[in-house]
Amino acid sequence: KQERSKFVIAFSQCVGNDAWRETMLEEMKRELSFYPDIEFIYRDAQGDNEKQIQQIRELLNSDINLLIVSPNEAEPLTAIVDSVFQKNIPVVVTDRKTSSGLYNAYVGADNTAIGHLAGQYIAQVSENRGRVAIVTGLMGSSASMERENGFREALEKTPNIQIDVQLSGDWEKEKAYLEAKKNMSSLQENDMILAFNDQMALGVKQALDEQGIDRIKIVGVDALPGAGNGLEEIMKGNLYASMLYPTGGTEAIRTAMAILNKQPYKRENILGTLVINKENAGLMILQSNKIQEQQKDIDKRQELIVEQKALYLNQKSTLNSVVISLVLS
Ligand code: FRU
Repeated sequence: KQERSKFVIAFSQCVGNDAWRETMLEEMKRELSFYPDIEFIYRDAQGDNEKQIQQIRELLNSDINLLIVSPNEAEPLTAIVDSVFQKNIPVVVTDRKTSSGLYNAYVGADNTAIGHLAGQYIAQVSENRGRVAIVTGLMGSSASMERENGFREALEKTPNIQIDVQLSGDWEKEKAYLEAKKNMSSLQENDMILAFNDQMALGVKQALDEQGIDRIKIVGVDALPGAGNGLEEIMKGNLYASMLYPTGGTEAIRTAMAILNKQPYKRENILGTLVINKENAGLMILQSNKIQEQQKDIDKRQELIVEQKALYLNQKSTLNSVVISLVLS
């Protein structure tokens, strides 16, 4: 391994097949393309704690230089991630956390702050009164626990807002849809609903639509661009608002590279968040389209550089053999 690549970075992802995490991986790969001598190993645990533990155990036994991990649920993943850290393999935790705090760096938004921001926003929209239901993510995942703490804390100051209904959608649209259907009689009594991600918010929206209920304002988290994601659904009026939750793929790789190259880095790399609603979603979409165009440009340029380099090496070796044959003749 040592001759081929300078370092091996492993990434253990809790769930692979959702748009938010696909965006994260794309960002990582793009940033990695600037470091051709890095070997990147990717493992998708498909939302299964046991599988993620097993995958990290295998990675640990395969000479990795650094682990990036987004732990499915905090408690079950803590021991194995701690054992990587204790073997002096640097650990970059991203998005979700373990419960020990044993890591070199964290990259992601502050989920308590996101819950807090959602609470403040909902209080403002509902003029400090009414009923709000919440739809949580996977109960043991740090992002869900932190969003809930932040949200409840923000609403402690508004005694006229009641949070009586709490459903769990495990971060999944389908699950949230089914839970919403099952609990429709209590759900429909609410004025607003906060789902801890946009996909669950859309599942709830679908269930309410089927009942012909469109009075309830639904707020989510993520505000991802692309068809069927938060930004577009806000523009369509299906979601009322969403708290921006950046994926941090680029920053995770940058932090990993700084650690590997023994450059200074921060332990806490907190990404910004803000409320997205109809007023600014359009602007966000424009910006994201622009960035995508620029990324395509960068990709094209990089391909050109690779081609040029190959051409140069080829010419150099031809030139060398010409020189050699001239000298010999
Ligand atoms: C994606 C996701 C996001 C959410 C995050 C929380 O898998 O469910 O929608 O914001 O994970 O960790």
